[in-house]
Amino acid sequence: MRILGIESSCDETAASVVEDGRRILSNVIASQADEHKKYGGVVPELASRRHCENILWVVKQALSDANLTMDEIDGIAVTYAPGLIGALLVGVSFAKGLAMMSGKPLIPVHHTEGHAAANYLLPESAELPALEPPYLGVIVSGGHTRIAEVLDYTTFRTVGKTRDDAAGECFDKCARAMGFPYPGGIHVDQAAQRGDASAFRLPKTKMDGNPYDFSFSGLKTYIVNLLHHTEQLGQEINRDDLSAALQQAIAQDVTLKTMDAAEELGYKTIALSGGVSANSGVRNMLASACAQRGFRLYMPPLALCGDNAAMIAAQGYYNYQAGITADETLNAVASKELRGESA
Ligand code: KG4
Ligand code: ZN
Repeated sequence: MRILGIESSCDETAASVVEDGRRILSNVIASQADEHKKYGGVVPELASRRHCENILWVVKQALSDANLTMDEIDGIAVTYAPGLIGALLVGVSFAKGLAMMSGKPLIPVHHTEGHAAANYLLPESAELPALEPPYLGVIVSGGHTRIAEVLDYTTFRTVGKTRDDAAGECFDKCARAMGFPYPGGIHVDQAAQRGDASAFRLPKTKMDGNPYDFSFSGLKTYIVNLLHHTEQLGQEINRDDLSAALQQAIAQDVTLKTMDAAEELGYKTIALSGGVSANSGVRNMLASACAQRGFRLYMPPLALCGDNAAMIAAQGYYNYQAGITADETLNAVASKELRGESA
């Protein structure tokens, strides 16, 4: 079964065709990052306009790269939540029109569930058989930070999530304060590789309640204040060292909570995903913690960590199998919990 996936929740207009939820036939991504860079972050209005301009050629390109026509597509999966509302609306409206015109089923996909599905697209190997639920999903991106039990392909149970900023947001805001261009996560990653994490002692978050919840705003505020203070004193800060310390702090937090949750809930299979899963510190620390405990770890290749439509098509396939489809009343939703969970 071939699903056409469409993604437009933030600043990437993307379309992809995926076969049986596992095999990528095409994967087209039109990123607007260079344009938003000028403003230091995503400008929602601008993002919507660019999606409008890009969506048609991106979808056409995905079909032509897959060497398929709409007749040979079995369903249209689209990200409908969560994200920038004006941006989501472009993908949702386009997908609805396409479904109406082609008579193909319309399949709504939650963006965070889509990120988790990126790991279904990994090639099977002797060491790493195809990922199947149940497993513990760790989804870290610019807008989301969550540990969730993936009980079956369409049933999720959140174990912990951020109470304020997402991990990617913390990377990006600190990066901006350090003078790196948007999106700053990757620049922090590169600088961190030259730096010494022990040069700074960053605060650890202490939280009441759910031990698996995250909070990154304290870390962000500490770093931003530190940079301002140093600037006021006319001193220079070593960006490489500060990046290394920041990356280590985030990687440690994600790794420790994931390991504790896996041990408590009895999971031996972990799947990391989302834009921040491209971070070398997070990948390495989680990989060595999993290796020590004999856990199996899945991580998408770098090209499938950030926003893409292949992950939406993959999750769309499983949604369709579970009977999750939509009609012309489908609307975009800016904020939405995972399937089966109340807001
Ligand atoms: O998944 P994604 O493309 O969009 C959302 O759903 O939010 O994630 C984007 C986030 C940005 O915050 C970006 O800076 C971060 O992922 N990111 C990284 C790295 N590559 C992307 N953060 C840290 N290290 C990286 N190598
Ligand atoms: Zn995303």
